[in-house]
Amino acid sequence: MHLKYKSYWRKSGLKGKWGNIFLERLSNYNPKNILEIGVFCGVTAKNICNFLYKTNGNNFSYTGIDLFGVDQKDKRDEIKPNFLKDQKFSNPLKNIYYNYILKENLNSIESVQKLLKEYSQNIKLIAGDTNKVLKEIDLQKIDFVFLDGGHSYETVTNDLMILYGGMKDKKKVILCDDYGKESYIEEVEKAINDFTKKNNLKLNLIENRFAEIIT
Ligand SMILES: C[S@@+](CC[C@H](N)C(=O)[O-])C[C@H]1O[C@@H](n2cnc3c(N)ncnc32)[C@H](O)[C@@H]1O
Repeated sequence: MHLKYKSYWRKSGLKGKWGNIFLERLSNYNPKNILEIGVFCGVTAKNICNFLYKTNGNNFSYTGIDLFGVDQKDKRDEIKPNFLKDQKFSNPLKNIYYNYILKENLNSIESVQKLLKEYSQNIKLIAGDTNKVLKEIDLQKIDFVFLDGGHSYETVTNDLMILYGGMKDKKKVILCDDYGKESYIEEVEKAINDFTKKNNLKLNLIENRFAEIIT
């Protein structure tokens, strides 16, 4: 299948070749039900839904969790994307379009809902801190998780603990961003290493960036 990650004139965590590499991981496993932690502006969410629609027709689900501006449970240094502070774009046309014409906050649940409106029957967006809300999610049918939310040691550990607890021994996939040197965050790497070691899990390093854990 030909897969091309589209950016929809918005900000994305998976710029350049990374979007296509991400889509290749999906096509490797052909999941039906995907959870993304850290939706940001919804670009990866839209690409995931496009992929799922292509491969499963209407028989798929996408769940996305993000703070979407709500307060975190504790004040942790989550190494937030700079963009979230004031929605400044390097492209002045985008600045005018989003900040002055549409007056739209791209990291809001309303904006992402609008972007994904053609898939409204298949998606669930949750505004909240994963330290609080992840344990309320039904992980039974989730086949693939993209873990790209809070980047502190505590949050990554919390998220992995809950995800693994719900997906253990099911041979499902947890793909974690910002692990390898192409997009390295020290706390993320440490949390993933400690967690996989403690639980005796194998870890695949994908293109020197993603850590892939099979549950
Ligand atoms: C790097 S961005 C995600 C990029 C997105 N996956 C993409 O491909 O475009 C990280 C996102 O995680 C969210 N986030 C940070 N800490 C969080 C937490 N504790 N719970 C839920 N979301 C969180 C931020 O609001 C931000 O939108």
